Amino acid sequence: MEFKEAMKQRRAVNFFDPTKDVTDAQIKQIIETAALAPSGFNLQPWRVIILRDKEKKETLRKVAMNQPKITEAPVVLIILADREGWKKGNTEFEKDFVESVKAGIMKQEQYDWFCNATNSLYGATAERQLAFACKNTGFFAMSLMLAAKDAGLDSHPMDGFDIDGVRKAFNISDQYWIPMLIAIGHFDKTKTLLPPKWRKSYDEILINF
Ligand SMILES: Cc1cc2nc3c(=O)[nH]c(=O)nc-3n(C[C@H](O)[C@H](O)[C@H](O)COP(=O)(O)O)c2cc1C
Repeated sequence: MEFKEAMKQRRAVNFFDPTKDVTDAQIKQIIETAALAPSGFNLQPWRVIILRDKEKKETLRKVAMNQPKITEAPVVLIILADREGWKKGNTEFEKDFVESVKAGIMKQEQYDWFCNATNSLYGATAERQLAFACKNTGFFAMSLMLAAKDAGLDSHPMDGFDIDGVRKAFNISDQYWIPMLIAIGHFDKTKTLLPPKWRKSYDEILINF
């Protein structure tokens, strides 16, 4: 699918066809495509919990404003953003450094510099830690929804949920923020999709201070 077509055709689909499943291979494919998204220092602070089980989706729905699409969609993804993905000792952080050395992007002797750089850029305050986690994971999540469209699937992002409730129900530690849930499936064609929503114009987007 052309990029612009995928952008145009991706919609937050409110109704999912309960008779149409999504395969594990499709989910793997869209997650792997989304993993090509860029991230600061390539730290990739995103993780995903895949929910298919009816009871688990019902549990999630109870802490997500009772949104019907959570139980109607065959798959719901809980998107996690690692607030510590910039930190010395964090598994992905350490792997990123090793891989960067292997790829010749960094030298072993730059390890302390790397730790200091990510610490000052992303770790200096709680606000920066959250921004680091969520901005990068947002790129991943958007890529995932476009990858789903490209694979012939529909999606629906949601942040209408009780974050502490979701944490508790799925044993998610404070290390992770939960930027959104994404329902994945096929639009129920017996329902009417709302017309495309308005978007800000070029002029409305530009600003100066
Ligand atoms: C981060 C995020 C959170 C959202 N949360 C919800 C939600 O909890 N419930 C809902 O019905 N729609 C939710 N939406 C869907 C938006 O309302 C929708 O994307 C927007 O109106 C634009 O419509 P479109 O995606 O069809 O272009 C969310 C969208 C995003 C990006």
